Amino acid sequence: MSEITIEEKVALLKEKYEVMGQDLRSYLDGLLYSNYLTYWDYVHLETLLSLQNTLTDFPDEKIFLMYHQITELYFNLCLHEYDQIGKNGAIVQDNGNFSGWNDQLDVQYLIARLKRINSYFESLTKSFEIMIQGMDPDQFLKFRMALLPASGFQSVQYRKIEICSTEFFNLVDKEKRPHINRGATIDEMYESIYWKQGATELSSGKKTLTLKQFEKRYSVELIDLAKEYRSKNLWAKFKDLSLEDQKNEEVIQQFKQLDLNVNVNWPLVHYKSAVRYLQQNPKDIAATGGTNWQKYLPPRFQKRIFYPELWSEEELDNWGKKWVEETLNSGE
Ligand code: HEM
Repeated sequence: MSEITIEEKVALLKEKYEVMGQDLRSYLDGLLYSNYLTYWDYVHLETLLSLQNTLTDFPDEKIFLMYHQITELYFNLCLHEYDQIGKNGAIVQDNGNFSGWNDQLDVQYLIARLKRINSYFESLTKSFEIMIQGMDPDQFLKFRMALLPASGFQSVQYRKIEICSTEFFNLVDKEKRPHINRGATIDEMYESIYWKQGATELSSGKKTLTLKQFEKRYSVELIDLAKEYRSKNLWAKFKDLSLEDQKNEEVIQQFKQLDLNVNVNWPLVHYKSAVRYLQQNPKDIAATGGTNWQKYLPPRFQKRIFYPELWSEEELDNWGKKWVEETLNSGE
C-alpha cells in the first residue's frame, strides 16, 4: 500500500467501524487509554511455563514432557495449514482485511502451504534427537512407569494430520483393505483403522486400555472430522486441481515429500527412540500399552502411505526400507 496520510487513515477507520454500526470515537478512546503490549503478555509466557507439571522428581521427565508439548504445537501449526487448504485459502483485500474464503484452490497457494507443513515435520524429525540422546535411559525407564497407560499413541492431533492428509481408505489396516470397499462409509472404515493394530495386547489380543481411553475420548470427534475431510483432504484437493496443475512437478514433489516426512522420516526417528530406550532387554521392557511395538511402529511393516498413486510399484514395495538399511544397520 502506498503511504497514506493520517487523515486518510482515520477516514478508512471510520468507514470500517461504520460498516459494523460502531462509533470510531469510542475506539479511539480505547486506544488512548490502553497500555502498550508486552512480549510476555502476547506469548502468554507465564501460562506457557505453568504447564510443565511433571509427575515424578526425575529431572529428565521435564525434557520428555516439554518435547511432547513442543511436538503438539508443531502438529497444531500443521493443522492450521490443513484447515486453510481445506477452505481454499483466505481472500485478503487490498486494504489488508480478511474477507472470506476462495471458491477454488490456487496451485501456488497449495505448494506454499505444503512446503510449510513439510518444514514443520522436517524440524520435528531433526529435533527428535532430543528424545534419542537427550535423556538419561535409567531415569526414563523409571519415570515412564508413573505415566502408564498414557502414550503418544493417544496424540489426537497426529491422527487428525493423517485424516486431513489422505483418503480415509488409505488409513484402513493394509490387511483389511482388500475386504473393504473404497466407497464404504467412514464409520465402517473406522472400525478397521490401522492404528488399532498398535494397541492390541500381546498377551490377550484385546484392545489396550490406552486405546479404549482414546476411543472413548476422541472417536466421535475423529469420525466427524473424517466425514468433513472426505471431500477436502489433501488428496481430494489434489484431484480438484486442473489436469495441468496435477502434472505440476512442484506439487507432486511436495506431496511425495509430505508422504515421506509423515510416514517414513518422522516414524523412523521415533522408532529409533523406542529402540534406544525400550529394546535393551525386550523381555523386561514392554511398550506402554503392552503392545508389540517392534512389529507395529516400523514404516516398512505399517506401510501407511498417503499418496500411493504418486509412487512406483518398486517404491511402494520398498516403503521405509532404505532408511532402515542406511541408518539403523549402520549402528548409529
Ligand atoms: C523416548 C521417547 C519415546 C518413546 C520410547 C516412545 C515409544 C512409543 C511406543 C512404544 C509406541 C507404540 C504404542 C505404545 O505401545 O504406546 C509409541 C507410539 C506413538 N508415539 Fe511415541 N515414544 C516416544 C516419544 C514420542 C514423542 C515425543 C511423540 C510426540 C507426540 C510420540 C508420539 C507417538 C505417536 C503419535 C505414536 C503412535 C504412532 C502410530 O500409531 O504409528 N512419541 N511411542
